[in-house]
Amino acid sequence: MCGIVGYVGFQECPLILLDALKRLEYRGYDSAGIAVVHDKKILFHRAVGKLINLEHHLLKHPLKGTIGIGHTRWATHGKPSELNAHPHVVDDIAVVHNGIIENYVALKQEIQQKGIVFSSQTDTEVIAHLIALFIKEGNRFEDAVRKAISRLKGSFALGIICAQQPHKLIAVRKESPLIIGIGDGEYFIASDAPALLPYTKRVYFMNDGEMAILSPDGMELVDFKGNILPFKTTEIPWTPLLAEKAGYKHFMQKEIFEQPRVITDTFRGRFDPETGEINFEEFDLGQIGDLKKIWIVACGTSYHAGLVGKYMLERLCRLPVEVDLGSEFRYRKPIIDRDMLLILISQSGETADTLAAMREGQKKGVKTLGICNVLGSTLARECDFVIYTHAGPEIGVASTKAFTTQLTVLYLLSLYFAAWLQRLSSSEVKQYLYDLMELSSKIEAALSAAEEIEALAPKYAKFKDFLYLGRGLYYPIALEGALKLKEISYIHAEAYAAGEMKHGPIALIDENMPVVVLAPKGDTYEKIRSNMEEVLSRQGKVIAVTEPDCREIAEKAEDVIKVPEIANPFLKTILYTIPLQLLAYYMAVFKGTDVDQPRNLAKSVTVE
Ligand code: F6R
Repeated sequence: MCGIVGYVGFQECPLILLDALKRLEYRGYDSAGIAVVHDKKILFHRAVGKLINLEHHLLKHPLKGTIGIGHTRWATHGKPSELNAHPHVVDDIAVVHNGIIENYVALKQEIQQKGIVFSSQTDTEVIAHLIALFIKEGNRFEDAVRKAISRLKGSFALGIICAQQPHKLIAVRKESPLIIGIGDGEYFIASDAPALLPYTKRVYFMNDGEMAILSPDGMELVDFKGNILPFKTTEIPWTPLLAEKAGYKHFMQKEIFEQPRVITDTFRGRFDPETGEINFEEFDLGQIGDLKKIWIVACGTSYHAGLVGKYMLERLCRLPVEVDLGSEFRYRKPIIDRDMLLILISQSGETADTLAAMREGQKKGVKTLGICNVLGSTLARECDFVIYTHAGPEIGVASTKAFTTQLTVLYLLSLYFAAWLQRLSSSEVKQYLYDLMELSSKIEAALSAAEEIEALAPKYAKFKDFLYLGRGLYYPIALEGALKLKEISYIHAEAYAAGEMKHGPIALIDENMPVVVLAPKGDTYEKIRSNMEEVLSRQGKVIAVTEPDCREIAEKAEDVIKVPEIANPFLKTILYTIPLQLLAYYMAVFKGTDVDQPRNLAKSVTVE
């Protein structure tokens, strides 16, 4: 949700900033801008719409400078416009901001009373004015920044430059992510690691309440009172190639097809199939204590993973599990006991509502476990324990490989707890682990249906509404399939637990309502078959997702997508996810929407 970048060093930086912004564009894409210091003046360009517009502007009117900041925006305050785009420039100061200033109205009125006129509707502009005012009062640049941020309430990651200090880039973090990239005589800042990968892998993940003063001569880290802080750098294991499209048309397509590999990366090294021993290097059970209940909290796709996790944990461990949306959890005043474990699932590790749930749990003294993809993210750092999904950078805004790797971790975690609680014998655990080792080749087989699924797009892309039906473990998969379709093809889609259909949604069914029916072999096969009959007898068009020998389903459905057979019902959920991702993808491609950057969305939702 907004991406910010910055550079100070010896290289001409406008194109570096632009390139870094391109790698962050998934965080917001309604407007963008860059500011540099040149000849003790702030020079800047801003443009509405995607970064390409800013790029064209920069090519026509190049900027020069070895220090600068940049921003790609997802609007919170003020519609997308050139005036509302960042950087916000006031006198000698330019600011880029990710977050929300909650008290900006009061601050704005206070500043306006001094006769100062605002040029935008954003909350960010107050920051630039405050710093400029403190500089006018005779404060040094860094002191003016500290004084200004002491007046702010809310969340902010900031990059700030000053025309009179052409070698000083200031970075500030409170509740919005910010990473410092460390080069040789040069420093970078960025909201997220992919922006830095081509330039450096040595980074410092800023903590809340820290301010960094960066110059070609070095980096000084202070708290908001100005006390000097020590810092330790980390190497990011990702390579720049992982954040490229590698010949695919879209990041989403690449990420769908990467799933066999990243799922293996996620479970590799975490168990011994011979002994059935599962090992999470990141934590051990002794630290969790008495485990009576699990609560899972997440948002969006990660929430759907949590719903599948509930089925897995309850069935394999016989532990009660609740699942909540981040945005609902804390305002519901949940009853939290100390002997429960709070699991937070987040690809980015920066989702504001999920982080708020984590903090709420920690306040009540409960242990927190994060399942997260991004190294050094807030969730990964602030949870008591973290398990990483090794999905690599997920750039497509619609989450795909993050979801299936989250399911992989939840599966392993369920087995881990089940073994510990002695709900499964060691031979049962071993069998479940063997099943996991087969999964990647099955996913390859599921992906081989891509062309057939693509061929369905022209037939179905004209419909305005879709229904997705699933039962049990496959109900959350239906929810996820419907979410994917809505997000990238803008087709309205709803998912129902198939047994609920008769309680209302059946009224919607007619020849204009394609219904995607998830019909896996197993306990509920006959039930879902009856649900399909109910749809067919009301002229609904059924796209059945089922296994090769399920002839009764195949004969009756309008179209059939076949998923390779696997006996393990938990892992089958992953296989059934693949065609739904592909269906949404090809429908969106056929409709010509912006697959990787769908309208109104941003990759990490860092505001409430
Ligand atoms: C959907 C999607 C979102 C995210 C949600 C949570 O495709 O990407 O629904 O799943 O915003 O994000 P994380 O997992 O980063 O907390």
